[in-house]
Amino acid sequence: MDDELEQVLDEWDGELTVVHRARSSEAWMVVAVHSTALGPTAGGCRMMAYPSLAQAVLDAHRLSSAMTAKFAVCDLPLGGGKSVLAVPRIPTGSERVRLLHEFGDLLATLGGLYSSAPDMNTSATDMDVIAEVTDHVFCRSPERGGSGNTAPATAAGVLNGVRATLESLHGSADLAGRRVAVQGAGAVGSILAARLREEGADVALADVDERRARNLADVLGVRVVPADDVLEYPCDVLAPCAVGGVLSAETVPRLGCAGVAGAANNQLADPAVADRLDEAGILWAPDFVVSCGGVLHGVGLEVLGWTTDELEGRLRGIEDTLKGIFARAKADGVSTLAAAEATVRERLARAGRADREAPRRARVDVVAAEHPGGDGDSLGRP
Ligand code: NAI
Repeated sequence: MDDELEQVLDEWDGELTVVHRARSSEAWMVVAVHSTALGPTAGGCRMMAYPSLAQAVLDAHRLSSAMTAKFAVCDLPLGGGKSVLAVPRIPTGSERVRLLHEFGDLLATLGGLYSSAPDMNTSATDMDVIAEVTDHVFCRSPERGGSGNTAPATAAGVLNGVRATLESLHGSADLAGRRVAVQGAGAVGSILAARLREEGADVALADVDERRARNLADVLGVRVVPADDVLEYPCDVLAPCAVGGVLSAETVPRLGCAGVAGAANNQLADPAVADRLDEAGILWAPDFVVSCGGVLHGVGLEVLGWTTDELEGRLRGIEDTLKGIFARAKADGVSTLAAAEATVRERLARAGRADREAPRRARVDVVAAEHPGGDGDSLGRP
């Protein structure tokens, strides 16, 4: 086996990694099941090109671990999972449908151990296609009986995360006149920017697609900051709503904000960055808490039968959860990441099956790795 891949598989503390070579294309499919301590797992399906299979598996692992934390912190009865469709280029039309059906077959084989939802480059429409072959899917479009787009709930959660951060920084959660920089004018960032504006915040918007940022800024009447400069932009709160890894040893000294609260998953390039932020006096609202509006939406509406009012209440609860984490970090003299992780560990321990000191190792690592056109795979399918 490839050395890099072997190392990635060995170093993870999750329960199961499934790697499957698509038969209809050159894609690899990865399903990472981090923890079933709270229940069967769920998480988004990310479709993108990766430099290597090992990098795709690493991404699935990191995202899957973050989902365990997200479900635990939200007190939801699901475990952390994530999947990656590593494609040479983003497929469209019938090629995309074939890939999604094949992915659905893989989910069916796993029998509900992992259920998929949309993530980067996949949508509710894609979940509709997967649902043609398996039930193990969240967030189909409303016309097909699903709860649809999670972005509005995620943005609402981030708004509450920004409020909690302001409260801790300035003693007031009032957004009026506060400077907030939103990195990423996509599905979440655009709704967040609009809601911040409604509440009187002084919003700056940045996107690598400058035209997208400019168009939205014109509609909202807010300023645009070049994507390369947004981290340095002087503001109360930076809201990363684009990609992961934006907070690193290299970027922390350049940050112009007093606090960070955004939707992007895995914002820290590595966990030690949490201490650097702490030392720099920058308040970081842990991403897996701030961005949990999406899972509250999908699981709350589709599994737990919540009304939209109940969902709203739980989204408001994100503010209190964060305030508790900030208070704990301060009282214990630890980073906000350490405080949030302690909360996660307690919730997993309450479930009675977690053993974070001696985690179960990933053992069934490569379930199927067939070349396209092969005769069969180890899942027992023809
Ligand atoms: P999106 O794909 O709709 O928007 C992302 C935007 O960021 C795009 O406009 C893109 O051009 C821009 N972008 C990419 N790299 C950038 C950079 N370096 N600087 C500035 N802009 C950049 O994605 P979406 O759905 O808005 O999600 C945003 C983030 O939040 C992602 O990291 C996602 O994983 C995370 N998230 C999203 C949830 C949801 O419900 N959509 C739920 C939880 C997390």
